[in-house]
Amino acid sequence: MKILITYSSQTGNTQKIAKSIHSAIPEADILSVSEIINLDYDLIFIGGWIDRATFDETTLTLAKQIFDKNVAYFFTLGAYPDSDHAKDCINNIKNLLKENNNHVIGGYFCQGAIAPKLIAWFSTLTSDHKMAPSEERIKRWEDAKSHPNKEDLKKSKEFALSILNKLNQNK
Ligand SMILES: Cc1cc2nc3c(=O)[nH]c(=O)nc-3n(C[C@H](O)[C@H](O)[C@H](O)COP(=O)(O)O)c2cc1C
Repeated sequence: MKILITYSSQTGNTQKIAKSIHSAIPEADILSVSEIINLDYDLIFIGGWIDRATFDETTLTLAKQIFDKNVAYFFTLGAYPDSDHAKDCINNIKNLLKENNNHVIGGYFCQGAIAPKLIAWFSTLTSDHKMAPSEERIKRWEDAKSHPNKEDLKKSKEFALSILNKLNQNK
């Protein structure tokens, strides 16, 4: 079975997850989205960072080009994994992949540290702006700083193996 792990990552969080998945499935090809030559795979792990409640633009463009495949998705986000925002991200990504008749086997996501540049920009916003620093947001940015952590990486490996199991059961 030919397996691809592909990802887009600006600051390294999603790349860490991609590498961790690869460590669980070393026979898979691991390529950043820009390195992909073809999509001739039996299973594609597609991963991106979250931008406005869906995959970042690079991953989004790739996702729209995947048809009739077995796929599993992964992402990192600044929001808490148990938030409504994370649920929206899951739905948006699942629906996107399903639209092209892909078989979505499962997904994994965890929090990822927010780029310091972005936090610096948030800090310039006046308090009436919806992204302006608040006590709740500052805490969330602090909490995100340590992710992906050891536990996230361990869970992403378990996720990778569970996808292979599910696929084998469906055969
Ligand atoms: C331009 C921009 C937009 C973002 N939008 C969101 C968002 O809508 N929701 C969210 O939870 N996180 C958002 N984030 C946070 C990132 O998704 C998160 O920090 C992610 O782990 C970055 O992954 P990377 O290191 O692989 O680039 C945004 C980050 C950037 C830079």
